[in-house]
Order: sequence, then C-alpha cells, then structure tokens
Amino acid sequence: MANIPHGGVLKDLIVRDRHLHDQLQQESGSLPSFTLTERQLCDLELIMNGGFSPLEGFLNQKDYESVVENLRLSDGLLWPIPVVLDISDTEIEHLGIKQGSRLVLLDRRDDAALAILTVEDIYAPDLTKEAIHVLGDDDIAHPSVAYLHHRVQNRYIGGKVQAIQLPTHYDYVDLRYTPSELRARFAKLAWKKVTAFQTRNPMHRAHRELVVRAARESRTNVLIHPVVGLTKPGDVDHYTRVRAYQALLPSLPPGLAVLSLLPLAMRMGGPREALWHSIIRKNFGCTQFIIGRDHAGPGKNSNGQDFYGPYDAQILVSKYSEELGIQMVPFKMMTYLPDGDEYMPVDEVPEGAQTLNISGTELRRRLRTGASIPEWFSYPAVVNVLRASYPPRTKQGFVLLLTGLHNSGRDTVGRALQTILNQHGARSVSLLLGETVRSELSSELGFLPSDRHRNIQRIAFVSAELARAGAAVIAAPIAPYAHSRAAAKQTIVTNGGSGGNFFLVYVATPLEYCEKTDRKGTYKKARAGEIQGFTGIDDVYEPPTDADIVVNVETQSIPEIVHSIVLMLEATGLL
Ligand code: ADX
Ligand code: MG
Repeated sequence: MANIPHGGVLKDLIVRDRHLHDQLQQESGSLPSFTLTERQLCDLELIMNGGFSPLEGFLNQKDYESVVENLRLSDGLLWPIPVVLDISDTEIEHLGIKQGSRLVLLDRRDDAALAILTVEDIYAPDLTKEAIHVLGDDDIAHPSVAYLHHRVQNRYIGGKVQAIQLPTHYDYVDLRYTPSELRARFAKLAWKKVTAFQTRNPMHRAHRELVVRAARESRTNVLIHPVVGLTKPGDVDHYTRVRAYQALLPSLPPGLAVLSLLPLAMRMGGPREALWHSIIRKNFGCTQFIIGRDHAGPGKNSNGQDFYGPYDAQILVSKYSEELGIQMVPFKMMTYLPDGDEYMPVDEVPEGAQTLNISGTELRRRLRTGASIPEWFSYPAVVNVLRASYPPRTKQGFVLLLTGLHNSGRDTVGRALQTILNQHGARSVSLLLGETVRSELSSELGFLPSDRHRNIQRIAFVSAELARAGAAVIAAPIAPYAHSRAAAKQTIVTNGGSGGNFFLVYVATPLEYCEKTDRKGTYKKARAGEIQGFTGIDDVYEPPTDADIVVNVETQSIPEIVHSIVLMLEATGLL
C-alpha cells in the first residue's frame, strides 16, 4: 500500500513534451485570461504537480457540494477541502466565460500563463454553508471564515486544467520538490518509509522530539515539510522559518531527515485540514504523517474559546485511516521535564513530575524584549535566526512625525533630535525636513489639499521603508490634515515591519509666536496675499487630538523638548 497515490495514479499534470507545451503556450495567447489570487495560485501549483491528486482541476459544482457535505468527491474518493476558482460576476461577463470556454490562468507576479482551464460549470456557492460544514463554524474570527466572507467572489468556476508551466519561484529553489521529484529523491536515498512533519511555525526542541520519536517508533526516515504558501495571518514569514529549519537540521541524527517546502495555502481547518494534509503527504511519497496537538488550529473564536478540541484532528483522521493509505502518527502535547532534561508527551509524564512550557506569546515577548530564551526550549542557532528577524526594541526602527505650523520650531527640534540620536549611536538617523522633501521628492506638488496629502504619503512611504531597515526617522512636514497623518501612521505601522513604531509629535507653538519670530517674512507675504493657501492664514491646520507628545517652543527650551521626546522613546524600550 505504501506510496500508492490517492485514487491510484499520481495526477502529475506537468507537460514534459516540448511540442505540446509550445502548442498550449501559443493557444494561450488568443484566450481570455484570468489573474489568479495568491490562494488560487498556491492551489493551482499543487493541482498541476500532483500534490492534490486525484484532483485535475478546480472543483465543479457536483464535486464541490459532495466535498462540502461528505468530505468526498462525487466519485467517492476522499477529499475534505474545497479547491475552487472563485470569480466575480463582472469578470465572468467581462471575459465572456460560459460552459465550454477555455480560460488562461495567469501568475499575478509575472503574468506568466500557467494553465488553461476548460470551464465545466459556473455556480453560486453557499458560503455560509461551506464555512459551517468545512470549518465547523461561521464565526468571522476564523481566518478562513473571514476569507470566505470578505475575499471570496460570488461565483465558482469548475473544470480541469491543462498545465503549461509551474509558477516560477526565486526563493529556496533547491528546497522545492514536486511529488514526483520527492518520490525520486526518496528512492535514491533508498528510503522505504517516510514520516512527514507538517509545520507553519519555527521548529524548536519539542518539534525535534516529535519527529525523532516518530521515526524511532515507526522505524522511518523523516520529511520536514513546512508550508511556505499561505499560513495563518501573523505567522513568522517563511524566509525566517526556512532559515530556522536549516539551523535545526544539524540537531537531528545524521541521515534521518530531509527538508522540502510545500507551497500550500492553508485554511486553518483543523480536523478536515489534517485529513487533507495526510492525502497531500501521501501524494508526496510519504508513508506516515505526524498529527500532534491542535493540528492546523485557527486559534480562538469570538468567545475566546478554541475552535477545535486539541485532538479533534486525530479523531477525524483515525476515522478514515483504512482508506487513507498513509498512517497517522498521533502525539499528545510534548512537554519539557526539567528533572531529566527531556521532552515527553503529556500522557507519558509521571504523576507529580514538574513540567515547563514556553507559549508562543511568551516566546514573542522574549524576542521583543531581548530576554533570554533557554536552551531547553530551543537551539541557540534557531534562536539567532529568529532574533535576526525579530530584533529587540533597542534595535528596531521608529518614526517620529513632527507636525505643526510653519516656523513652529519643527525643524529646530528635528535637527536637535537628530544630533542627540547620532550621539547615542545604535541606529542610522534620517531627518526628512519639510523643505528637503518638497525639493527632493515632491518638487512637482503644490499646496492644494490633494497635493499636501500626497506629499505626506510619500514621506510615510519612505519613512516606513527606512524604519523597516532599522533606522530612526524624524519627519518634520507641516502635515496640517488629520486624515493625512492617520493614513501616514497606518502606512508606517503596517509596512514598517518591526520598525513600524510610530510617534506623533505635535509641535503646538501658537500661530502668533510662529508669526512673530518669522525672520524670513513668509507670514507677512501670506497676510499680504502674496502667498495663497498658507497654513494658519488662509488654509486650515487641524490640531492633532491623538499626539503621543505635545511640545511648544514658546514655553519650552529646545533641550527640554528633545529630552521629553528621548524619555518617551526610552519608556517604550526603543532607547
Ligand atoms: S500547524 O498549523 O501546522 O499544525 P504547528 O506548526 O504549530 O501548526 O504544528 C505542526 C505539527 O506539530 C502539528 O501536527 C501539531 O499538532 C504538532 N505540534 C506542534 N507543537 C506541538 C506540541 N508541543 N506537542 C505536540 N504536538 C505539537
Ligand atoms: Mg500549533
């Protein structure tokens, strides 16, 4: 039974015949085309390379309904997760798609034609029913329920695909294997039995223990098979994870395991997903599959409860063990016992023995603060990889947005801060003065509200990029509009990575004082009508109500102001 793909034959659709490939490529030029979403792209790759055998395309209505209700295709083969091509009515109409149409599927990253789909049917899914049956819930706190209701389009197109080519990857190419390639690799290594380990997280000692125990108990080799397609929002990015897996490999017995990456789009569907993962690993040539605690769990629901029980996945998979053709290796939660310096499944822990665990939240806290991560939990080489991607606060970038009227002292405060931060060292400091940005980045912009807004968004874009690279950014435009400042904050917080630390500094020097001390006479010109649309005179300044700190050059000295900002940065752990 070992190694026989689901449904008999591996449905490897990759075209090896050059002539046929050229023919399809040529035909694709004259067909309507559809750009795949990220999820559809992942799905298509696994449809084409056989990872999703027995599927040969996206589910038609009959198969879809059968999968949703019975975890089976309409011909009775086990298949627990809908793999569908969702599309909007508008697009269907625009592309003129109907039954029998041929449609080219494009890679969104490079517009490459990957496959041609022959449309079997176009149907309207019941998304709530899909959520309840497949995910067990219609609670929007489930990332896939949210995806169904917020992202999925209202029509599904079913049909088989003809592969033109696999998506091109540039990252970790040597670690990407199709099912056929992986089977060949196992054969070359003379591995007869292989246990697959699924993961979407960095691996630590507990996970090393899982795979070594599995190998020992079932006398197999091991495939570390992490998902690098789509995982749960907020997960550690796959670049970091792959470096962490590579750092962990030397701690495994020699010759035990290989690492390969799986371009799967996870649904976080717990039990059904575990069944799906089992079928996929069988397709990739594995004979056993590890299912531990809370496999493919989506986290907590809106009531703060887990969506699935910690071992629900094991229960469902064992129900289908006969026909699956890949053997589940179940594990209870792996726990550390300091007494023997060893890991054990909780059900084997002797009564009264002391146990230790570090939760994901606690691990993230320690990374953030730079607090120590004990060697009983992970390996220094793995921790180093994580620390490089999750620098402690003292190494993270940040952005100070100084807003205020013309001549309010923004520039002076900005320059003084730059000096102090340079003196402190530790980070590259970038000062983006209003005038510099206007001449270097926004010279074609004027002072209309839309131009002012655009100017601030350019500053935000550059600031986020700099902060992501670990810089301290001091940006000091007037930034008169609340909505522009809010949008800038949003950009920096979401795109600045671990440097998305944002502080709004309101330089609240009163207009009267700004005007009185204006040696260049700009206010005078504005009053005389020689300059139009001048902030504070004939254009609005909306004072922030959400500033992290408010300063005033009329009543405070510059060193006093700089000191207060430095203290604020210190309090948040950045200095
Ligand atoms: S998952 O979403 O891919 O399942 P994760 O990477 O956390 O998430 O887990 C990978 C596999 O290891 C799953 O089978 C999970 O059940 C198992 N696992 C992770 N941590 C433990 C643990 N401490 N004890 C037992 N099993 C675990
Ligand atoms: Mg987990």
